[in-house]
Amino acid sequence: MREPIHILIVDDDRAVRDLLSEGLGDSGYHCETAGDGAEGLRRISEAAYELVVSDIDMPQVDGVRLLQEIKRLRPDTEIIMLTGMVDAEIAVRSMRMGACDYLTKPFKLAEVRITVERALEKRRLVLENRAYQKTLEQRVQERTAELVRKTREIEELFNRLKGAYETTLEALATALDARDTETLGHSQRVASYTVDVARRMGVGEPELTDIYRGALLHDVGKIGVPDAILRKPGTLTPEEWVEMRKHPEIGYRMLQRIGFLETARRIVLSHQERYDGTGYPHALRGGAIPLGARIFAVVDTLDAMTSDRPYRRALPYEAARAEIEKFSGSQFDPRVVDAFLQMTRGDWLHIQARVMRELVTPDQGRG
Ligand SMILES: [Fe+2]
Repeated sequence: MREPIHILIVDDDRAVRDLLSEGLGDSGYHCETAGDGAEGLRRISEAAYELVVSDIDMPQVDGVRLLQEIKRLRPDTEIIMLTGMVDAEIAVRSMRMGACDYLTKPFKLAEVRITVERALEKRRLVLENRAYQKTLEQRVQERTAELVRKTREIEELFNRLKGAYETTLEALATALDARDTETLGHSQRVASYTVDVARRMGVGEPELTDIYRGALLHDVGKIGVPDAILRKPGTLTPEEWVEMRKHPEIGYRMLQRIGFLETARRIVLSHQERYDGTGYPHALRGGAIPLGARIFAVVDTLDAMTSDRPYRRALPYEAARAEIEKFSGSQFDPRVVDAFLQMTRGDWLHIQARVMRELVTPDQGRG
């Protein structure tokens, strides 16, 4: 059963108090009375009422003052003001100050009941609305927290997957290096060099990742070149060169079903192209060659010249630098060469050391 609704009636006129108390009591409300504003204040501070019906014109603490105090102490209590004809202006003022309604003396009980019901209904709606609002806010908060949690989980998963992909690609590149050049870390080194030059040229993500992967896998197509040719100690015959030169296209085809390597494989296809159109397989020129491949061509020359080979010792960095500068505009893109020349020997050694460290501890990422 619902608890009875508590109404406080404040009036210095006993007859009015009794009439209201009895009349509203008959309607099932639990009524208490106070003989003046001061007593009304005391009651209000001691207990909470759903509704106060208060006279305006009372000695000492009048109805308007009581109204202000009630609004301060009990903001959820509704107030109906009682006024004589002459007080109409004050009644309007009290409405502005937060009274819910007013009744003009003399009043009929039926009219009082309707006004009381209306005030209580208004209060119920306000409270209900507030509760709903609160529940809503709480639910929004909960859902937001859940969303943040889920997003974090997905990010974590994505990063783990990405890490697994990169590790797989790097393992493949290492296997290729072992078969071909027997130069530990060649692919990772040129991939890191390529990314560093690209970054210097203003390239950002996600292009940097594509460039890294393309450079890393540049020679993946050499899997399709027979050992007899790939590892032949002497010079290749023209027929053998034809076989050897198929490796960019073999690599390109190998990667065609791997969606996330779509951009990278274009670098694989074009890594043997030259800026002046004398490269292969398509004799592309200038900007027709993907930027990643144009950068790769420069840093691959650096790495090849400064690494030991079975038939010669590593050349000094200065020799590679001079060679690259010499072929700027012919074999190499001059813009790439400019970016390359801005880097010092120390920069390259730094990248080289980082790559070697990562080869020993592969789960650290390429940084
Ligand atoms: Fe190649």
